[in-house]
Amino acid sequence: MHSFGYRANALLTFSITILALMCAMASFSDNFNSPSPTSKVEVLNINWFQKKPDGDDEVSLTLNISANLQSLFTWNTKQVFVFLAAEYETPKNSLNQISLWDGIIPTKERAEFWIHTTNKYRFIDQGSNLRSKPFNLTLHWHVMPKTGKMFADKIVMSGFRLPDTYR
Ligand SMILES: *[C@@H]1O[C@H](CO)[C@@H](O)[C@H](O)[C@H]1NC(C)=O
Ligand SMILES: *[C@@H]1O[C@H](CO)[C@@H](O)[C@H](O)[C@H]1NC(C)=O
Repeated sequence: MHSFGYRANALLTFSITILALMCAMASFSDNFNSPSPTSKVEVLNINWFQKKPDGDDEVSLTLNISANLQSLFTWNTKQVFVFLAAEYETPKNSLNQISLWDGIIPTKERAEFWIHTTNKYRFIDQGSNLRSKPFNLTLHWHVMPKTGKMFADKIVMSGFRLPDTYR
């Protein structure tokens, strides 16, 4: 006959094994959840476009940013930080990145959205490079998990171009 202590110990070992297995399965499912976010951004208007007195170009845009980031949310997601950047090339830098808008998405329900907005942060080029400039609008995100590592990814939307004259 096994003593009570032995059986209690066996039960505890069994419970811990099950718990460990469940955790392993949970992080396994998290790893193999391949997210498929979508995004579309429209430039609805160029509000103004000018060369500032100091010589730098600045443009003001009205955007319609839409996205569905619901697939980024799992049991382990705390929140998602998202920002939209204008990205373009100049003779000096192969990548200029300017954040135009950002937000924090707290829940899966809020992860499908569209927002009609002017750029929240100023779109200024250090120089006079923006006329006729082709640019990408890239939606970047950082997924902040409850446990484990943060991860980041993006969707690049290309084919945008600024006007060839100031207005
Ligand atoms: C913004 O885009 C969404 C999705 O494409 C669309 O449903 C909505 O009507 C658009 N809003 C404006 C103001 O263009
Ligand atoms: C813009 O997007 C295109 C296509 O994805 C890419 O080839 C190009 O390098 C991007 N430009 C910049 C400045 O990131």
